[in-house]
Amino acid sequence: MTHGILSDILDYANRANPYPLYEELRKTPVFHDGSGPYVVSTYYEIQSLLHDPRLSSDSRNLAATAKDPLAGEAEEEAALPPSFLKLDPPEHDRLRRMTNRPFGPPHSPHRVDGMRGDLRAIVTGLIDDLGDPGQIDLVDQFAYPFPVTMICRLLGVPREDEPRFHVWADTLAASLDPDPDADPAERQRKTHDSRMELGMYLAGLIEERRKNPGDDMLSQLAAGHGQDESMSTMELLSTAALLLIAGHETTVNLITNGMLTLLRNPDVLERLRREPTIAAPLVEELLRFEPPVQLLPQRTPLVDIEVRGVTIPKGSSMWLILASGNRDPQRFENPDRFDPDRRDVQHLGLGSGIHSCFGAPLARLEAQLALTELARRLHNPRLLEDPPPYRQNAVLRGPRHLRIACDEVRA
Ligand code: HEM
Repeated sequence: MTHGILSDILDYANRANPYPLYEELRKTPVFHDGSGPYVVSTYYEIQSLLHDPRLSSDSRNLAATAKDPLAGEAEEEAALPPSFLKLDPPEHDRLRRMTNRPFGPPHSPHRVDGMRGDLRAIVTGLIDDLGDPGQIDLVDQFAYPFPVTMICRLLGVPREDEPRFHVWADTLAASLDPDPDADPAERQRKTHDSRMELGMYLAGLIEERRKNPGDDMLSQLAAGHGQDESMSTMELLSTAALLLIAGHETTVNLITNGMLTLLRNPDVLERLRREPTIAAPLVEELLRFEPPVQLLPQRTPLVDIEVRGVTIPKGSSMWLILASGNRDPQRFENPDRFDPDRRDVQHLGLGSGIHSCFGAPLARLEAQLALTELARRLHNPRLLEDPPPYRQNAVLRGPRHLRIACDEVRA
């Protein structure tokens, strides 16, 4: 159960602008209403907790009384074991290390950079196909299909199967949202079914990749990639599901939040058009200003810990509000100003510590390319509605549609 300010944050009516609520919340850096989670909203406390080995990401360490807000853990496990996002060392480190072999340095230093050509081609194709410049839905026509096509290609998942796992991915993303109105039993059933179906789908695909390996990550993970340690089939399934979902539900919001922010700051949009080299710092500022992952609702202390004078008992549910830390005036000057020239921009948008975003190099590159090309090719773009309609989800926050118009789509 959540009350007062927490239910206001979860209330869909505040989805378009939760920032004044976070400002209110920061007056009590560790907020606890007596029955709900311990909510931490200030930058330095969040940053330090993300590096604290006494904090667990494994929901099996939650006390029974703290499980209610995110019911369904036991059922989830029956379908697929927890992915490394929800594991602690040493299992987390072992699985993350193995997953990194076919993805990043030192073993695969060219993977992400080698995707540049493909990324560009997909962006170009989607912009070419935008159709009527007077009626563009940037989410459905661009920001969703782009990262989804790319994560499918990276993993070796056939793009034409997308409509099937779109539904499972949406359900699993929704399960992260501590929506107070959702019926827990119904949600638990849907989450369980989606994990089961996604697991079965991926099992078939991995079988296929073992017989006919390609250059994709699933083939390489399934083959063990010539390493002395290897993943069990269940670990492989959970990891593949994690990558597929993480690659599905986050970058879409970074691109959409990015275009929305640029259209609200036309001088910055114009600057990006003239000066594409600002794309990299601009995306960092965006990850601070409008982070697609607003809060981490799943941490629990392994022992009693004290934060800013508040004792948080072992097994309690904790929420870390990344988006609030990113607007903390104790850390960032003028935090409510979108400023791509900001020098000191060590945001929490991709997390921090051992669980910091695994896909960060890909997410950054995708957003940089997408926004640069949109700025270059859309002539005189403008918002058709502001604020746009948002998705229900308070954790993975972003517009469901972004309706825009422009005079012309340039070549
Ligand atoms: C803009 C897009 C993205 C954002 C904002 C984002 C954000 C985050 C955040 C905040 C975390 C930390 C979670 C925690 O501490 O509990 C995380 C972890 C993770 N992300 Fe991302 N992510 C993005 C894109 C991606 C992509 C494209 C992939 C896959 C290729 C990905 C894969 C992962 C994985 C596997 C983890 C778990 C890391 C671990 O537990 O060690 N992410 N992400």
